Amino acid sequence: MHGADTHNHEGILIHKSRVYDMLAGPFVRRSDTPILNVAEVSAGDSVLDIGTGPGYLARAAALRVGPTGRGVGLDASAEMIARATDRAARDGSGATFVHAGAQEMPFEDGEFDAVVSRLAMHHLPGDIKGLAITEVARVLKPGGRMVLADLASSTTAGMLHDLVSHKPDSSGDKANELTALAATAGLVDVTTGRVGWLMYVKARKPGQ
Ligand SMILES: C[S@@+](CC[C@H](N)C(=O)[O-])C[C@H]1O[C@@H](n2cnc3c(N)ncnc32)[C@H](O)[C@@H]1O
Repeated sequence: MHGADTHNHEGILIHKSRVYDMLAGPFVRRSDTPILNVAEVSAGDSVLDIGTGPGYLARAAALRVGPTGRGVGLDASAEMIARATDRAARDGSGATFVHAGAQEMPFEDGEFDAVVSRLAMHHLPGDIKGLAITEVARVLKPGGRMVLADLASSTTAGMLHDLVSHKPDSSGDKANELTALAATAGLVDVTTGRVGWLMYVKARKPGQ
């Protein structure tokens, strides 16, 4: 169904990229810098943003890592990838974008120093989420960091509470689920915290 959101077994894809960019952009981008700080992104790093949408985090990462680094965004929506590519051409960030599912990433083992994601995990059904986090563990370098920022609750009431109160509970059910999946994928040093109205789960790939 062109133009509308698609609910399928691999996730809830957003196709109305222009509408999302205009309505959500100014709101969600406030957490770009805090998320990249939690992920300890610095000059020269290779950074992947999964479920990138219009590419906010990938573009912010590309600007931060500079010419010796790499900012890459991945999304299963072709319209989001087109929007993100167009925006990157205008902002000069040098970010690049890949049309693919988070559950089957077209990257080599150990390509990235950091993998970040915002507001995408709740778009993935449980089994796909598990596959995606296993893929994150595969594409991270030894010692690389994963930071997944999302709504704390899986219920509509909980999400509304997070949005209205701006106080997500980082011990909420989403954090617990992502923490368990990170450990299952072999990631270590799993911690949770908050960035604005979102909770995050951070973990590290063993080694180095
Ligand atoms: C709410 S948007 C978040 C966009 C962006 N990360 C942000 O912070 O604004 C969720 C994104 O996840 C994407 N998505 C859903 N299922 C996916 C999958 N299986 N693999 C990759 N991306 C997916 C959607 O197409 C959508 O662009």
